[in-house]
Order: sequence, then C-alpha cells, then structure tokens
Amino acid sequence: KLLAAGIDDIAIYIPKLFVDARDFAQARGMDPDKLQRGLGVSKMAIVDTNQDPACMAANACLRIMERNKLSPKDVGRLYVATESSLDESKAMNSYVIGMLEQVYGADSFGHCGGIECKFACVSGSYALYDNTNWIRAGEAEGKYAIVVVSDIAKYDLGSSGEYTQGAGAVAMLLNDTPRLMTFDPKVTSTSIKNEYDFYRPFGKETPIVNGQYSNLLYMIQVKKALMAYKEKAISTGIIKLREGETILDYIDFINMHLPYSNMGKKALTYLLRHEWRSLPRWKGIVDKMGMQEPIPKDPRGTIESILADEEFMQKDHEFTKRFTMTEEFQEAYDSKLASSLIASSMVGNLYTASLYMGFRSCLEFEFQKGTDLEAKRFGFGSYGSGSSAMVFSGVIMPTYKEIVKNMNLEAEIGNRRKVSLEEYEQIHESKLSPTQNILEGKKEFVLIGVGSSPELRGQRK
Ligand code: CAA
Repeated sequence: KLLAAGIDDIAIYIPKLFVDARDFAQARGMDPDKLQRGLGVSKMAIVDTNQDPACMAANACLRIMERNKLSPKDVGRLYVATESSLDESKAMNSYVIGMLEQVYGADSFGHCGGIECKFACVSGSYALYDNTNWIRAGEAEGKYAIVVVSDIAKYDLGSSGEYTQGAGAVAMLLNDTPRLMTFDPKVTSTSIKNEYDFYRPFGKETPIVNGQYSNLLYMIQVKKALMAYKEKAISTGIIKLREGETILDYIDFINMHLPYSNMGKKALTYLLRHEWRSLPRWKGIVDKMGMQEPIPKDPRGTIESILADEEFMQKDHEFTKRFTMTEEFQEAYDSKLASSLIASSMVGNLYTASLYMGFRSCLEFEFQKGTDLEAKRFGFGSYGSGSSAMVFSGVIMPTYKEIVKNMNLEAEIGNRRKVSLEEYEQIHESKLSPTQNILEGKKEFVLIGVGSSPELRGQRK
C-alpha cells in the first residue's frame, strides 16, 4: 500500500533588489504597457553582487527548517532543482548543505541524500515527484524531504528575454502527513521531445532563446501531458466525467509555469480552447464571438510552419483576444487562475521556482479573499524548455490554514530597494565584485567570493 505524500510547508527567498518595469521600458524605448499589460511584468527581482542561486536556496531552506524547528536529523533528502548551475559536476545541494552546516554543525547532514536536478524550468517538478514517491514507498521512515527550486533568470541586455527576468528560491517540505496538500497518486503525466526553444550551452551565462517558438511549444507540450493526465485521472477514478464536462471543470485551481505573469493566461486560453471545442458549450461561445475557430482539428504541421503562417497567426490572435473577453473564459480565469499570477508580476521570472511561487501566490491571495480551500483540487502545468512538460494534481488538506494564515509575500521579501538602470546593468554585466554589494544582508547566506576554497562560498552574515 502506498503512503500519502505531499507538501507540508513552503518557504521563499526573494532578493530585495528590483528593476521597475516602467524605468526599464523607458530606458529601452518601449511602451510600458507592453510590459505591464502585455506580459504582466511590474517588477523584476534581481540578485545583489553577493548573491547566487546556492545562497538563495540555502536561505529558503534555512527558513523552512527554522520555522518548523527541524534539525538535520529530521531531513532524509535535500534536492535542489535549478537551471543556474554553478558547476558541471558538483551538485548545488552540496553547497547548500555546506552553508546549512555552518548553522547546524559539521557533518550534521551526513546521513542525508540528494542531487541537483536539471531540465530547464520543469526539473523542480521531477524532483518533487521523485521525492513524493520516496515517501509513498515508505523509504523515508518518518523523515522529511526538502526540495528547493532556485534560479536567476538572466537574458542578454537588449534582448527580448530581458523583460522576463527575475530571481528567487522556493523550498518545499514534503512528508507523509502534509498539512498543506496531498498529491494525487498515479496521475502524474509527462511529455518530452528534443527541442531547441531555449538552451544555455556550456560556459555561456545567458540562454539562446527562440521566444515565440518557446511560447507555443510550452502550450503544446503541456496540452499533451494534460491529455495523458486526463486518461489517468479517469482510469484511477479520482475524476468522473459526465457528458458535456471537461477535466478542467474538476480542477478547482490551475497553477502554470510562469516565465511571466501573462503566460499563465495564455496557457489557460490554449488549454480551454482545446478542451471545450468538442463540448456542446463551445458552439454557444463561438457564436457569441462572431468568428470561427481558426485551428483545424487535424495536425497543423511544424511549430515553425505555424508561426510562419501570418494569416493564421493573425486570425488566431484575434480569436484568442475575443475568447478571453467572453464571460465563460473570464469566469474560469478569475476563479481558477488569477490569484496565482499576482506574485509573478511582483518578482518576475524564477525559472524552476515560478510554478511554485504561483502556487504560493494562489494560497495567500485566495486565503485573503476568504475562499475556503479545504479539499479543493489544484492542477499543476509545469514546463521546461528543451523540452518536457509535467501535469499533476493535489488536494488541499483541512490543516492548510495553519500554514497559509502566516503567508505574506511583501513581509517575507522584506523592504525592497529599486535599482537604477545603471546599477542594474553593472550587476547584470558583473562589473561589481561580491564585496561591492548594494544591500547589507541580515543573517543571510551571502557569497564572499568564487573559488574552490570552502571558506569562499556562502558565508552567513
Ligand atoms: N500594450 C499592451 N500590450 C502589448 C503592447 C502594448 N503596447 N505591445 C505588445 N503587447 C502584447 C502583445 O500583443 C503580446 O500579447 P499576447 O501574448 O497576448 O499576444 C504581449 O504583449 C507580448 O508581446 P510580444 O509577443 O510581441 O513580445 P516579444 O516577442 O517582444 O517577447 C517573449 C515576448 C517571447 C515572451 C520574450 O520576452 C522572450 O523571448 N522571453 C524569454 C523566453 C520565454 O519566456 N518563453 C516563454 C515560454 S518558454 C519557458 O517558459 C521556459 C522559460 O522559463 C524560459
């Protein structure tokens, strides 16, 4: 018999420096509305000169351990998922353990296991899944697993990716009696394909990106994984579909990977269009829109050929716009997705951590609205370029309020400092050394320097 497993608690670490979208747009000669309304970006968190992904991961990890009064002996596994790796061989969780042992004592994590996971932004979901199964199988023997997702989303200056940057870490505590959410067993579904939508060759600090290609591929891959999820959810009996219903009717809250806030809306639009088009309700919706669905039912060729078909793209864009203005879409958007997008607008792209920051955002802002989340099903659409998607779900536990009542994104980030575009570019281009930090970290792990000596990396100041 499988044990239950899920997320018991969740902690975040977001750097306090940020670039304001308006300042950024002005500096790059862009319309600020493109960032704020077009992409949903208001602020992009950026790391100080003395912060790196390992320090952010260690800070998030320490927060979750301190808050839950855990000692290293309570933790059986510590995984870090990232696409901002520091080393081709040495795993990021080893750096994190090195920092945590400054607090908990030398070799205090010696019994613990774990690896660094990589598959662009989806790797955190694979790490969660593997650790959930470790717990389900009874291997944890009462110990917790910690999965930390930590990234710096950094693109070339002047590139179209530059306005989808951000930085931060999310630590998730997993066990067999989770207070927050239990994952649904035997429904997790994946899709995978060798692709070059976004990749970062060895030695290169910023990725090579085919932006519009990556947007469409994200949606295609998630849809594929959702189709597989649907079959499993029906065959395991967790969801029973009646005539005229879709799987999304049974997912109360949808959390998507968010490279930028509006990507969630884009993905929801795509999934609903595909799910609803075979249902009787679709005819009524399309009639009101006064336009025929431009996507034919048959496969439409390659992603390149779809993007190159200007006439189709224009019609599709118009159709999407009209669809998002319908009452039916708005109802699904407001009730299932909107609250998960708020944090993304405030901090920007966190790569692996974006999906989980969205989950955290949904919990906090739904709680603030007074929504009762108990027994609600959350569906997750995870995507990593390269490319792979994972769709899975979980159910909120009656004890969730114990955790969610203390969530306060603003307070947890702390006092933020807006950087000028000049400061931002100096940090971006690594013109400042780790000791020329803009802010003084208070009781945080920070980077002292880079090198092979253990004293250099990750001191707690
Ligand atoms: N006012 C209001 N809205 C405006 C506007 C204005 N003045 N100008 C443009 N817009 C709207 C556009 O209509 C568009 O809306 P829709 O998405 O609804 O069509 C939106 O703003 C964005 O405009 P563009 O598509 O023209 O934007 P772009 O081509 O300059 O760049 C991007 C967008 C492709 C996401 C780019 O920022 C990029 O390459 N980012 C990095 C890659 C990325 O994030 N890909 C996402 C999927 S892959 C992934 O998720 C993995 C990962 O984490 C990287």
